[in-house]
Amino acid sequence: MLNIKKIASYSMDENMVIVTDKNKQIPDFNFTKPETDFIHKEIERNESLVILNRFTNWIFIQTTDYSKDINVQKELLRKSGNTICKFVQENKIGHITIIDAVKDGRLTLSLFEGLALGNYQFIKYFKNAAEKKTSLTEISLFSDDITGADIQILSALIEGVYFARDLVNEPASLLNSVKFSQEIAEMGKKSGFKTEIFDKQKIKDLKMGGLLAVNKGSADPPTFTVLEWKPQNAVNKKPYILVGKGIVYDTGGLSLKPTHDSMDYMKCDMAGGATVAAVFMALARTKVPVYAIGLIPSTDNRLGPDAYSPGDVITISDGTTVEVLNTDAEGRLILADAICYANRFEPELIIDIATLTGAAHRAIGTQGMVGMGNASKNVVDLLVETGLNEHERIAVFPFWEEYGESIKSEIADIQNVGGDNAGAITAGKFLEYFTKYPYFHLDIAGTAFLKKGESYRGTGATGSGVRLLYRFLQAISNEKIR
Ligand code: BES
Ligand code: ZN
Ligand code: ZN
Repeated sequence: MLNIKKIASYSMDENMVIVTDKNKQIPDFNFTKPETDFIHKEIERNESLVILNRFTNWIFIQTTDYSKDINVQKELLRKSGNTICKFVQENKIGHITIIDAVKDGRLTLSLFEGLALGNYQFIKYFKNAAEKKTSLTEISLFSDDITGADIQILSALIEGVYFARDLVNEPASLLNSVKFSQEIAEMGKKSGFKTEIFDKQKIKDLKMGGLLAVNKGSADPPTFTVLEWKPQNAVNKKPYILVGKGIVYDTGGLSLKPTHDSMDYMKCDMAGGATVAAVFMALARTKVPVYAIGLIPSTDNRLGPDAYSPGDVITISDGTTVEVLNTDAEGRLILADAICYANRFEPELIIDIATLTGAAHRAIGTQGMVGMGNASKNVVDLLVETGLNEHERIAVFPFWEEYGESIKSEIADIQNVGGDNAGAITAGKFLEYFTKYPYFHLDIAGTAFLKKGESYRGTGATGSGVRLLYRFLQAISNEKIR
């Protein structure tokens, strides 16, 4: 993990990034005349990142442009942070100092965030992992506008994203549900949130028929992990509940996924669960005064002699019967049990996060998550705004009542698939059926895992939703919103 610190002074012979305003004079860093001329020429050419090679050290000058929207600027800086990161790695640089010459923590921290997130690696399975290891181990920040607390929060978030990515990148052969739950419990111990893992017997006692049905084809038992972060100074009495899909591998079951590559990355199907765990880690590490519960139902979805089958009728823990018409629509079955469990807390709000539908991925690609729900306008506005701030954008889909009609079954209360169209929404409607509390659903099927790398989000697991949900709860803790 990166060592991150705030510093009170720096020397000009270090490797450094200077963040400065394009439209103001370049601050005086004792640049030589040829250097100053070069910087100006590059800026005139509309180059926002200027790199000076001083042979003993590198200086990166990153300009900002206040004529652009603040969130657009922030995202440009995150991406620039990633570009600098790759440069730093190629040149085997171990330490870099970021200087907030623009005196705007929002911007400088964004560059820092991109740099740190871009430095993530998942290399443990390479024989020559030691050689591949990133050179960058330390980042220092010099700023009047950034507090120690800001840095602490951002480091916790970066570590949270790393934690979620590690869990998602781990192959299912090495991370079954039991191991997944244990990893979360261990993180709970380390960072200070409580966990309880329900085993198969307890899951049976609770009559979680969705989770048990999906687990029937599996060689491993299911788990249901409950996370709790309840500080004494919490602003809320009723908890905010985060529910995360924890399918450690999705073959589709008997409704087998087609070959080509649709199964290749299905170890990512527990990304929602990993995100929930990472958010709790960051909440606990930074002691956010909000009472939150996390629920992560987990199993793999496989074929086997006992596997659940299309046509089966199963019973969710609240007694709702579901006609299973496609065993590949398994996420909603395990999440239904989790949402029923959430109801007992009389929650302020339930948010679930799940790699739920290919339809969400197809609809908007990898540029954002799909969101929908019946939560209040204030809640939805705050989620959307936080998404824009963090560049974890939410495209809010309609959630009209009529969409619920397509999950009506001929022989049971509901069925687990809707019609041919609006698949992301009918999945959301299925979940909404199980609660009368304010509810919001985040489908991260497009964003959780990138086959082709995208800047600081990296290749493979992205940690989608960690920064969004943490910042959302942090905002709630500052100013209670209903
Ligand atoms: N885990 C998949 C969804 C998914 C697709 C995640 C692509 C990540 C990337 C989910 O369980 C699934 O298979 N959904 C089906 C539902 C359908 C059968 C109604 C789908 O989207 O095809
Ligand atoms: Zn599936
Ligand atoms: Zn799935």
